[in-house]
This record gives sequence, structure tokens and C-alpha cells, in this order.
Amino acid sequence: MAAQKNSSFLLLSLLLLLSSTSVSFAQTGIASFTSSPYSKQSCTDKVPKIKMFTGLNETLYGNGDICGTNYIVTCIGAVDPQQTSPCRRTKTVTVTVTDSCTVEADGKPCSTFVLSAEAFAQIARPQAGLAKVAYKLVSSS
Ligand SMILES: *[C@@H]1O[C@H](CO)[C@@H](O)[C@H](O)[C@H]1NC(C)=O
Repeated sequence: MAAQKNSSFLLLSLLLLLSSTSVSFAQTGIASFTSSPYSKQSCTDKVPKIKMFTGLNETLYGNGDICGTNYIVTCIGAVDPQQTSPCRRTKTVTVTVTDSCTVEADGKPCSTFVLSAEAFAQIARPQAGLAKVAYKLVSSS
């Protein structure tokens, strides 16, 4: 009897663990990237010294209080579901917020994340230009 109770407790814990894992990655968006030479970032008014950084679209950037915060960004597929996934085997990168994005270099509206070229290349093939991503805020500074 005790053994049975234990195993259902384990099963319940496992289910809770699985559901909390998927909840934490529930937010999705689109990532593009910007290439070096990098321009001055809106958080610091300086060119970034770190490699793994990101700009955020206006909604996520807000008034800039989010500067210096880290996001875990995970590639989950192509933006156009007809296309093959640009994701690499290592799909996840941690990036620090350094910039805001009001309009992309090509004049189009900003994607959720405008990653550094290095950060994008770690999770997806740059040739794709864009990737669908899941994201999670991990810390604030
Ligand atoms: C920024 O990205 C989020 C998540 O994808 C989205 O909900 C929001 O509408 C975007 N804001 C702008 C201004 O594009």
C-alpha cells in the first residue's frame, strides 16, 4: 500500500514538473538578428562589449527598465511553417537586453528579439534570417 502511494506521488510530481516546464516556455515570438559593426545600444548609448545580447521590440522593451535583464531564447522552428526549420541542434541561448528596436534595418516592423549575429547563429542558421522562438525572462539586474 505504501509503495503504491509513493508511486502515485512520484507520478504526480512528474506531471507537475512537466507542466511547469512547458508553461515557462509558453511565450513565443520571432527572432531576427543584427550584424557587426554594431551600433550604439539604447540601454547604454555605447556599442556592446558582450557578444550575446539582444534588442527587444517596443512592447517588451517598454521604458527600458528591462535593460540588463537576461532572456533564454529557444529556436522552435521556421516562421513560415512551410519552410524547413532553421534551428540548430543547440537551440537555446541566453542573451542580455541591451537595445530597443522600433524598426528593422530594412524598414520592416521589429521582430520580438533582434539578436546579435553571434547569438542567432548559435541557435539557428543565419541564412534563414528569422526564426520562431520561445522565450523566458531569467533574471533582472
Ligand atoms: C513584440 O513582441 C511580442 C511577442 O511576440 C508581441 O506580442 C508584440 O505585439 C510585439 N510588439 C510590437 C510593437 O511588434
